[in-house]
Amino acid sequence: MIKLINLTKFYRGLRAVDQINLEIRKGVCFGFLGPNGAGKTTTIKMIAGVLKPTKGQIIIDGHDLAKDPSAAKQCVGFIPDRPFMYEKLTGLEFLYFVADLYSLDSTPMLSRRIGDLLELFELRHWEEELIESYSHGMKQRLIMCAALVHQPKVLIVDEPMVGLDPKGARLVKNIFREQAEKGTTLFMSTHSLEVAEEVCDEIAIIQKGRIIVRGTAGELREQAGMGGKLEDVFLRLTQER
Ligand SMILES: Nc1ncnc2c1ncn2[C@@H]1O[C@H](COP(=O)(O)OP(=O)(O)OP(=O)(O)O)[C@@H](O)[C@H]1O
Ligand SMILES: [Mg+2]
Repeated sequence: MIKLINLTKFYRGLRAVDQINLEIRKGVCFGFLGPNGAGKTTTIKMIAGVLKPTKGQIIIDGHDLAKDPSAAKQCVGFIPDRPFMYEKLTGLEFLYFVADLYSLDSTPMLSRRIGDLLELFELRHWEEELIESYSHGMKQRLIMCAALVHQPKVLIVDEPMVGLDPKGARLVKNIFREQAEKGTTLFMSTHSLEVAEEVCDEIAIIQKGRIIVRGTAGELREQAGMGGKLEDVFLRLTQER
């Protein structure tokens, strides 16, 4: 569903992402881990189509992002680490605005979908309030609704759990799992090893722009020759290089 071929990004002299090759199957929740500055956000922005690669190819559901950007982007919902929202809109207005960006017709089906999403993310009571009055966690949940409005096959998420309280985090983790079980492919960066272990079917660790290890949490432990916590594996693998 997502295929990255020799994906590379240079920022002037810096190799932020260095020849990444990855293939992620449909319905997999993929966790992207790595130290600060490793290249996670850069990779995610390229997959979401908001940053142009220096080299390499991105294929989403068979569409080459460079050759057929609109078909590829139609498959993708993107939740950035620092989302932008029009704060003078209400939550409901914002979701209709996003639906319009995806050229979705204003049908009863769309209003049902938006209502269902607001219900799912526990924002129904706030739908008529201005976004500027939302707390950080509520904004975070609203941007997740917005990313799902066009029923994307692929959901790309940059650090989704930052700033969510335990209840919000539990809600989002459950929704991500449900989405994956329904066949949505998730690509998620996180610093939370607990989240990666609990939610992700597969994990890759990136360091200095290169993938240093990939597998299930269990396989990562084995590769590192350790039976311990994922945290120990992460620290050891990222320290060695
Ligand atoms: N716009 C930019 N211009 C120049 N260098 C950049 C730019 N954006 C990112 N970088 C550099 O690219 C490298 C990778 O950054 P990136 O934001 O992808 O890391 P990250 O893995 O998401 O880190 P974090 O965990 O802190 O979010 C870093 O060295 C960063 O300084
Ligand atoms: Mg980042």
